Amino acid sequence: MALIEWKSEFSLGVSQVDAEHKELIELVNRLYTKVRSQEHDPTIVDFLEELYTSAAKHFAHEELMMQARRYTAYEEHHADHQRLLKEVTAMMFEYQDGVLNNMEVMAERLYDWFCIHFKTHDAPLHRLIHSYIKL
Ligand SMILES: [Fe+2]
Ligand SMILES: [Fe+2]
Repeated sequence: MALIEWKSEFSLGVSQVDAEHKELIELVNRLYTKVRSQEHDPTIVDFLEELYTSAAKHFAHEELMMQARRYTAYEEHHADHQRLLKEVTAMMFEYQDGVLNNMEVMAERLYDWFCIHFKTHDAPLHRLIHSYIKL
């Protein structure tokens, strides 16, 4: 079973952003499949690197959209993107160093990584963009 199932509420209605969110969820799910095997797998670090790259690109895209609309919560949203990139980097080094060896903890961190940010920061942005689309 996937760690995160795609839901219609994740959809922004802007196809490029939806595709980026789907890509991030797919990467998290692929990572979760590897993590569940419970064996030390050096390719997990490669996946985390791929997640970092895809996330950085997606965050830059969202930030451009926010800036274009003079989004008032830009600073908080940007700060949380920075936190998420640090969190991926932290997981990468902790896994490499053997500090992060409880795979349930890693799965929980991966779930929170996408879902908490989406709920607290992306969803309000999505509502704003939807109101623009309807105008
Ligand atoms: Fe997002
Ligand atoms: Fe975001």
